[in-house]
Amino acid sequence: MKEIKGYIFDLDGVIVDTAKYHFVAWSNIARTFDYELTHEDNELLKGVSRVDSLEIILELAGKTLEDDQKKALLIKKNEEYLSLIEGLTKDEMLPGVEDLITEARELGFKIGLGSASKNAEQILVKLGVIDYFETIVDGNGVVNGKPHPEVFLTGAKNLGLHPEECIVFEDSQKGIVAANTGGFGSVGIGNAEELQEADLVISSFEKLTYSVLQTVFIELHNN
Ligand code: BG6
Ligand code: MG
Repeated sequence: MKEIKGYIFDLDGVIVDTAKYHFVAWSNIARTFDYELTHEDNELLKGVSRVDSLEIILELAGKTLEDDQKKALLIKKNEEYLSLIEGLTKDEMLPGVEDLITEARELGFKIGLGSASKNAEQILVKLGVIDYFETIVDGNGVVNGKPHPEVFLTGAKNLGLHPEECIVFEDSQKGIVAANTGGFGSVGIGNAEELQEADLVISSFEKLTYSVLQTVFIELHNN
């Protein structure tokens, strides 16, 4: 990277701690066919669309279902998820993420969202942060899910930036692969072992500033 001009954020598990609600809702669906979803299984679902998540769970459970049964479960899962996040507020944003976005806007950077979720806009509205984003690319607008880079490439294009001018923030392994494949700088939020392909892994946004990112992505690469 020569210069950082934009940040593209994943939503679930990066802006806001919703991964736990997806887990609860999927666990309840899995129990309807006697499968107990584990936290390890849940890692496979991060960054994955609703439809594909159900396929993964069915495969883990060794279960086959008719299309109309799957459709009914997908509706049920989303209804439960939406009821779990009904009272979502700014308090459940990841500590430090809003400060990083605010600083970036003051620096004139462009900010985008790249998420697999079809609920992204309503979540950003609940959090009161939708106005920070110049582009929102979500599960309603992409054909290829992560690890395909489409969601981030579309985001960069909408921001008028090249991938190598943007940093992608992601909590899923598939999202990190998508960012790397697309030519973006990648920051993993979470566990260094699970996100080892990321250029940088942080356990929290607290204390993360542009100057830290500049050191990692620009200065270290030029030396
Ligand atoms: C991703 C989550 O952001 O969105 C996945 O990491 C989720 O767990 C996917 O399945 C789709 O979300 P939604 O809100 O459209 O069901
Ligand atoms: Mg995520």
